[in-house]
Amino acid sequence: VAEIKGGHDEGMDRVGQSIVVMGWVRTLRAQSSITFMEVNDGSCLSNMQCVMDSDIEGYDQVEAGSISTGASVWVQGEVVPSQGSKQKIELKVKKILLLGESDPSYPIQKKRVSREFLRTKAHLRPRTNTFGAVARVRNALAYATHKFFQENGFVWVSSPIITASDCEGAGEQFCVTTLIPSSVETTDTLLDSIPKTENGLIDWSQDFFGKPAFLTVSGQLNGETYATALSDIYTFGPTFRAENSNTSRHLAEFWMIEPELAFADLDDDMACATAYLQYVVRHILDNCKEDMDFFNTWIEKGIIDRLRNVAEKDFVQMTYTDAVELLLKAKKKFEFPVKWGCDLQSEHERYITEESFGGSPVIIRDYPKDIKAFYMRQNDDGKTVAAMDLLVPRVGELIGGSQREERLDYLEARLDDLKLNKDSYWWYLDLRRYGSVPHAGFGLGFERLVQFATGMENIRDAIPFPRSPGSAEF
Ligand code: 4AD
Ligand code: MG
Repeated sequence: VAEIKGGHDEGMDRVGQSIVVMGWVRTLRAQSSITFMEVNDGSCLSNMQCVMDSDIEGYDQVEAGSISTGASVWVQGEVVPSQGSKQKIELKVKKILLLGESDPSYPIQKKRVSREFLRTKAHLRPRTNTFGAVARVRNALAYATHKFFQENGFVWVSSPIITASDCEGAGEQFCVTTLIPSSVETTDTLLDSIPKTENGLIDWSQDFFGKPAFLTVSGQLNGETYATALSDIYTFGPTFRAENSNTSRHLAEFWMIEPELAFADLDDDMACATAYLQYVVRHILDNCKEDMDFFNTWIEKGIIDRLRNVAEKDFVQMTYTDAVELLLKAKKKFEFPVKWGCDLQSEHERYITEESFGGSPVIIRDYPKDIKAFYMRQNDDGKTVAAMDLLVPRVGELIGGSQREERLDYLEARLDDLKLNKDSYWWYLDLRRYGSVPHAGFGLGFERLVQFATGMENIRDAIPFPRSPGSAEF
């Protein structure tokens, strides 16, 4: 349908052609001697309006009531100019075949239903206008991501999903253990199959990897190994965090894009983040017009203008110290009081992006070292690190990045300060032993980008199958 309607003059160039459409019935309504049926195949938001006389082949199934909302159909006919005002063309049906009936209990009816309800129907929600559009824009953002990095000479690297290290050091990892299938009969006996020591603790030496293993929270450390060999690289894959935050911006499983730039400092990193974000935003404005118009009308009024601004204007940049100053001067009362050294809360981030700079993305840099991860490069003041966060309205932190500590002695001292086990980072430290170079990178939460680009309020509606505390259905 996208191919036909995307043609010249909304498909008028196809008038007279015989075509086949396969899809799912959205609506069916009979009007005296003609029946109108809207069919959607998911290729675009538009349905194909199919017009049927009662003498066409297969009409008996329409008459018998077997074709209803949700049913799948094969329809063949001729493209004709539409009598209606909603579309330029429609299909004058010659033959219809019912492929799969839809039970009357089909939950996706024409009336609007809540997003909460649709989360309980995650297997069927892609058949709605909203979730179809989100899926297509998500796909376009992924495509544009690869396009941007590939065009700029970055090599895509697959970082592992199972890992022994905690990149962010926040202890939010999911643990991976092995079940021995033959001994597993029911979920209750699952635990029995995990090897245990005499005192009942997990015996990791007997487990699959011979030591504790986790789902990765970030591909960065592995990414750095390739950046210090191939120069610029990026990862794009799933990451996992067991943070117990039931918010509209956190998932337990989310996709992250992590470029790592060799021979680069924090300024290069911020320039890359800006160019990347502007590129992908421009890509969807240029290539997803129908879906973006839909979001502009139904999901977030004015989103197209806001995104256009993001694509065209420079982003605001400021230091953490200046951001704290700005917040201290704010008339607004914050729930969490601000002082130098505190982590910025989402209320602070929102104030900065939404109220101080009129909706422009804001990059904040040079954070206190005590609130940031061990790998960030220490600034000369001894108090701050070369870190940056990119904040956008509504979503807050979209990107977190930094220049990496490339000096072996500084990095070892930092691991000691934080009482992290140097031995388990031996390979990461090796990168500083053998041909260390200044390098920098960032991580962008892909679902937060989808939220930002579509206006969807809840991150659980920006990924096909959301994982959050207490919810891993589907
Ligand atoms: O700021 P974070 O924790 O940074 C890192 O993981 C670095 N290793 C990235 C790097 O420098 N290569 O996470 C990066 C981004 C955040 O800015 C946010 O957009 C997203 O990942 N993010 C989440 N998205 C959804 N759900 C969660 N629970 C998220 N936690 C982080
Ligand atoms: Mg962060």
